[in-house]
This record gives sequence, structure tokens and C-alpha cells, in this order.
Amino acid sequence: MRVLVVGSGGREHALCWALAASPLLTALVCAPGNPGIAALATCAPVAATDIAGLVALARAERIDLVVPGPEAPLAAGLADALAAAGIPCCGPTAAAARLESSKSFTKEIAAAAAIPTAAWDACADAEAARAAIRRRGAPVVVKADGLAAGKGVVVAATEAEALEAVDSLSELGPAAARFVIEECLTGPELSFFALCDGTNAIPLGGARDHKRVGEGDRGPNTGGMGAFAPVPALTPALEAEIMARVIRPALAEMAARGCPFRGFLFAGLMLTDAGPQLIEFNARFGDPECQTLLPLLRSDLLPALAAACDGALDRFDLRWTAEAAVTVVLAARGYPEAPARGSLIRGLDAAAALPGVLLFHAGTARDAAGALIAAGGRVLNVTATGADLTEARARAYAAVAAIDWPEGFCRRDIGG
Ligand code: AMP
Ligand code: GLY
Repeated sequence: MRVLVVGSGGREHALCWALAASPLLTALVCAPGNPGIAALATCAPVAATDIAGLVALARAERIDLVVPGPEAPLAAGLADALAAAGIPCCGPTAAAARLESSKSFTKEIAAAAAIPTAAWDACADAEAARAAIRRRGAPVVVKADGLAAGKGVVVAATEAEALEAVDSLSELGPAAARFVIEECLTGPELSFFALCDGTNAIPLGGARDHKRVGEGDRGPNTGGMGAFAPVPALTPALEAEIMARVIRPALAEMAARGCPFRGFLFAGLMLTDAGPQLIEFNARFGDPECQTLLPLLRSDLLPALAAACDGALDRFDLRWTAEAAVTVVLAARGYPEAPARGSLIRGLDAAAALPGVLLFHAGTARDAAGALIAAGGRVLNVTATGADLTEARARAYAAVAAIDWPEGFCRRDIGG
């Protein structure tokens, strides 16, 4: 099979790494890719949001299957455009991707499908949001309705803070034309994943993400500073409960509305005393959760993705190792506000040669002389597997120590 992966981050590097191991693969193309992906795939200089360009590339490369990584091309209709061109895509249509692109839509689906979730008000404007905040009182969660690259949520401890959040979120522009005001839940969070074919879903397991930039979960939110799996709280019974109460009802409701969901479904859950509660859906794999989970997969990923496109997941099963994995994100100084670009990164070969270690590139580039430099906020993902979390963690941090990049930083408490 000839496969096109869309995206340029660590998640897409991990997808390419897993796909490259498939005996069914005959060609791997990535658009636009990154220097790490370039070792596994042909990188094509087409932006992940250039829908027409991606369809033309898929045609020119005679692609049998497109695997989109990020949400933006999905929300912009990549799967729809590929379907119109007769090219299978393991990702949702724009209508199905509303599970991620509109928080009020997610809430509507949760209500219709009786999925446990925090109580909420959908607010058409800032004035309605302020009224809902006053009615609910603090603590309360203020969310911009649209896609806001992780910046659209404020968990407010006081009413004043919540009212202020309405003003600051309004500055996000169109993403904050509408708001969701939500009951504040407490409990550990879990990122849970399922592969869906529109009707059937198979679990891909769970991981815990560390979202804050600083150790001890302090500082601003980021795209994710690291992740680990397995999460001890995710017992087989809890996984079955999440599939039965969250994933399958959502799939059934989407299908009933004429927009069946195909691809990776990511449920952000809060494990409360009253059971798992849905915080959000994402229409894609998590980043860095994908880099953590795929190294634990023992089955071939490619036929599973093809089966998701063919509506054949009811006959599918994936095997996983009982090992653990930890991913540490190396970010450029200044991340998330103003990451410094251009610094030299060395020592990757030595780090990659350590036992159980995999390096995934996220925000790297090559300078004119071919040297590896930082070109983004989250720059490298260091994943290590081990017999248990303690070993995986020790291996990941040993690899971090082998990387020579003084301008980078990471959290020292991932997987702890
Ligand atoms: P989201 O962008 O929806 O993933 O939200 C970002 C973060 O805000 C989540 O990972 C949670 O930590 C927090 N959050 C979102 N909704 C709630 C809620 N209802 N109660 C408490 N925390 C929340
Ligand atoms: N790591 C969380 C996400 O991918 O949204």
C-alpha cells in the first residue's frame, strides 16, 4: 500500500515509524514532514492545511490511504475532498470533526447520547456567558467554542476570574464568538483513544498527558510536555466502561445524524468519584500520547487503519505489549509564549542508541549547512519503553541527558 501521512510533528513521526514497519507498505509519503520523518518517508513540501495541494499530491503519488495527524486539515474538509477524489482517508469528514472543532456540538452529542459530562450552558455571546457564570458561581470553566490551539479554556477559581476570562478569550477572535460555561470537575485526567470505522470502534488504550509547562503541574498550559502509559487507573473494567458509555454512544449518535465518525477518536476524560466524565473529544490522535502508545503496539498498524476506512473494524483486534512507555518533550526555551528558534541540537545518535529509546522529531529543521536546529516550541520527543514505568522513565531521562541542546528544556517529573 502507498500511504500519505499529513502533518509535521512528533505524532506524525510516530505514525510514520509505526507504518514503516508494516510489510504491507510499498511507499510512505509525508506532507510536509520534518527532518526525523525524512529518514522514513519521502517528504513533500505541501502544507497540512493546503487541502487542494494534498489531494493533488495523493493523486500524483497514487496513494491508497491518507492518514491525517492534526485537526486543522480535518476541520477544513480534507477527508471530504479525498472522498470526492475516491481516495480512502483514515480521518473524519468536516461534519464529523465538529466533535473537536465545536465544543457546543460535542456537548449536544453528549446530551443526546447520554454520555456522562460536566453540566454546561451553551452561550451565543459574551453577555450570555457572563450571565451563565453569575448563575453557576465559582469554580467554573470558561471555554471558547471553536478551535483555539489549546488556548481556549480557563478553569476559574473565582467568579471575577471567570468574567475576566470571557474578555481575554474574546481576543481569540472567531473561535470565541460563542462560549461554553461548564461545571468544574475534579479528578485525575485520562486521554483515551479508539480507532473508529463509522460504526465500530476498537480501543487503543489510554495515556496520561502532562499539560502544564512546569514541574508539579505549574505554569501555563501547553500542547503537552510528556505522557506515559499504561495509566494504572485504566483497568480493563474501566476501559470497557469508557467504550460502552462514551465511545460507542458517540459513534452511534454521529452515525444517526448522518455524519459517521471514522479515524482516531480521542476522549479527554476526568476520572471523578462518580465515574469517568467526558471533558472533550478530539478528532485525531493525541500529541504526545501517540508517541507513547504506538511503541507499545505489537500488531501491524496499517491493516487496522485500512480496516477503519473499509468499515471492517468489527473483525479486528490489536495486540499490545504489557510494557510501559514514557515520552518526555524537549521544548525550546521560552515555550509556550515565545520559543527561541535556530539553536543547534546535537547528540541524537547517541541518545537513540540507548536501550528502549525512540526519538521523534516535532519542531526541528535543517539549517543551510544541514545541521539540525530548533524550529518550533515542542522540538523533540524522547520516548522510552521498559518493563515498567520506573524503567521506561529512567531510560527516557538517560536519553535526554545524552542530547546536547543547552537551549532546550524539559519537565523532570514526567511519568511520576
Ligand atoms: P480542553 O481544551 O477542553 O482539553 O481543556 C483543557 C483543560 O482544562 C483540560 O485538560 C482540563 O484540565 C481542564 N478542564 C476542561 N474542562 C473542565 C471541567 N469541566 N472541569 C475541570 N477542568 C476542566
Ligand atoms: N496532548 C493533548 C492533545 O493532543 O490535545
